[in-house]
Amino acid sequence: MADIEGIKELKQFHENVPMETPGFFLRGAGSLDWGMKNRLARIFNPATARTVMLAIDHGYFMGPTTGLERVDLNIVPLMPMADALMLTRGILRTTVPPAIGKPIVMRCSGGPSILKEDLSDEELAVDIEDAIRMNVSALTLQCFVGGRHESRSIHNMTRLVDVGLRYGIPTMAVTAVGKELTRDAQYLRLAARIFAELGAQIVKTYYCEEGFETVTASCPVPIVMAGGKKLPELDALTMAYNAIQRGAAGVDMGRNIFQSDGPRAMMQAVHKVVHNNLKPKEAYELFLSLKDDELKKH
Ligand code: R5P
Repeated sequence: MADIEGIKELKQFHENVPMETPGFFLRGAGSLDWGMKNRLARIFNPATARTVMLAIDHGYFMGPTTGLERVDLNIVPLMPMADALMLTRGILRTTVPPAIGKPIVMRCSGGPSILKEDLSDEELAVDIEDAIRMNVSALTLQCFVGGRHESRSIHNMTRLVDVGLRYGIPTMAVTAVGKELTRDAQYLRLAARIFAELGAQIVKTYYCEEGFETVTASCPVPIVMAGGKKLPELDALTMAYNAIQRGAAGVDMGRNIFQSDGPRAMMQAVHKVVHNNLKPKEAYELFLSLKDDELKKH
């Protein structure tokens, strides 16, 4: 029992100071519950409302693709530089140190491999209990607007959104662009808006030169830009810069980081582009000098 001797009598209620009810820093998230906001605030830096997510989930349909052959050796050292990690539960459980302290965005769909023509034939591939057990900050899946299994992949998403809402875990819907699907603004707008309307709290989409700002403007939740295939570093930094300046709330990049000659340097350069609006040319110079320093060390 608490000692009641010596209880301080003078109480401070500050009756004349109204309690503030602050809003939430992230687009479209104002009406979400506390747990959902708390998880979003782990993924997106509240100071900038942006994120640098490192995407390493490619193995779920591509196997050990270039740069991801040894996640333990090549990728784990990059993790402290990311704001969030997008990966599968298999890599998380086997390879990522539990003390990493980074928010996890867990890939929750799967099915067809690259050996199949049609990648849209996906199902949900993670039970919510396992996601909770692994303390994830968000759930994510591929959605195939216009694909052969469009309805199923959208239904997968709404099931994930419902189960995520039950436990306060946001869902990030990823725009899948197959061979026959174009990446123009009209398509990306359509897909992003469908995902947000059907409940996704984050949308991940590719970049397009023409009209990307209309994709971000018409989507009521934060958009993060996927990197896509490996580009020369200056081009990748330019794409990230343009996406941010045109309304993206961050990037979720994979191959342009882990297939770079200087993955650590690239992580840091992308971070500056996203959080400090560093211009592409300066970011590229930073990349070169950090890469140079790395080479001298090894
Ligand atoms: C596809 O395999 C995954 O959704 C990736 O996370 C996504 O494509 C982002 O990776 P990248 O920047 O390599 O396109």
